[in-house]
Amino acid sequence: MKKSWWILFLLSVAIMLPFVIPYLSLNPASSRIVISSRALQYPALVIHIILALLAMTTGFLQFHKTLRKNKPSLHVLLGKVYVSSILLSGGFTLILIGYEPDYGRALSFLFLDLLWLFTTVKGFQAAMNKDFEAHKKWMIRSFAMTLTAVSARAVVPLLILTYLLLHRFSLPDGRMGMIEEVLDNNIWAALILNFIIVEWYLLKPRREQLSL
Ligand code: HEM
Repeated sequence: MKKSWWILFLLSVAIMLPFVIPYLSLNPASSRIVISSRALQYPALVIHIILALLAMTTGFLQFHKTLRKNKPSLHVLLGKVYVSSILLSGGFTLILIGYEPDYGRALSFLFLDLLWLFTTVKGFQAAMNKDFEAHKKWMIRSFAMTLTAVSARAVVPLLILTYLLLHRFSLPDGRMGMIEEVLDNNIWAALILNFIIVEWYLLKPRREQLSL
C-alpha cells in the first residue's frame, strides 16, 4: 500500500478508536449516546460498531495491491468478510435509526445507510458477474461510504468554525446549542464531501488515479 494509504488507515483507526472503546465493555452505562432500550437498541449498537470496525479494517486491506495480486484467495475471503459485515452492520443501523430522536440526523443516517448497503451490494454483484471494472468502481464508492463515519468526526472542528463565522463569533444558543447543531449536521456534511471526492476521483483519467 502507498504511504498515504497507510497514513489514512492509521488516522481512521486513531479517530474511530476513542468512539469504539466505550462500547467494548458491553456496559450500557458507558454508552456515549442515550440508551432507551437495553434489550434492543444497545445490542444493535454494539453489533453495529464491532462489524463496522471490521468492515473498515478489511476495506483498507482490500486496496493492498500486492495482496490482491499475490493472494487472490485472501482478497476474496476478506471481500466476503467486508460485504457480510456491512450487510449486518447496515441492517442493525436501521434499528438504531428508530431510536434517533432528531429527524434531520435520523434522515442523514438513513441516507448514508441505504447508500452504504446499495454500493456494497452493487460491488458484490459486479464481482459475481466477473465485471471487475464495475466491481472496482462500486467498491471504491462503498468504501467512501464506510469512511463517512470517519469524515463525520473529522469535519466537526471545521463545522464549529463555520458556525462561529456564520454567527459572527457569538453563541446565540450557548455552547451546547452550537455542539447540538454541529452534530445534527455533520453526517450530511461528511456524506456530501465523501461523495464529491469519490466521484471526482472516479472521473479522473485512469493514469492520474492512485495505484495502491
Ligand atoms: C457508513 C455507514 C454508517 C451508518 C449509517 C452508521 C450509523 C450509526 C448510527 C445510527 C449510530 C447511532 C448514533 C446516534 O443515534 O446518534 C451509530 C453509532 C456509532 N457508529 Fe456508526 N454508522 C456507520 C458506519 C460506522 C463505521 C464505519 C464505524 C466505524 C467503526 C462506526 C462506528 C460507530 C460508533 C463508534 C458509534 C457510537 C457513536 C458515539 O458513541 O458517539 N459507524 N452509527
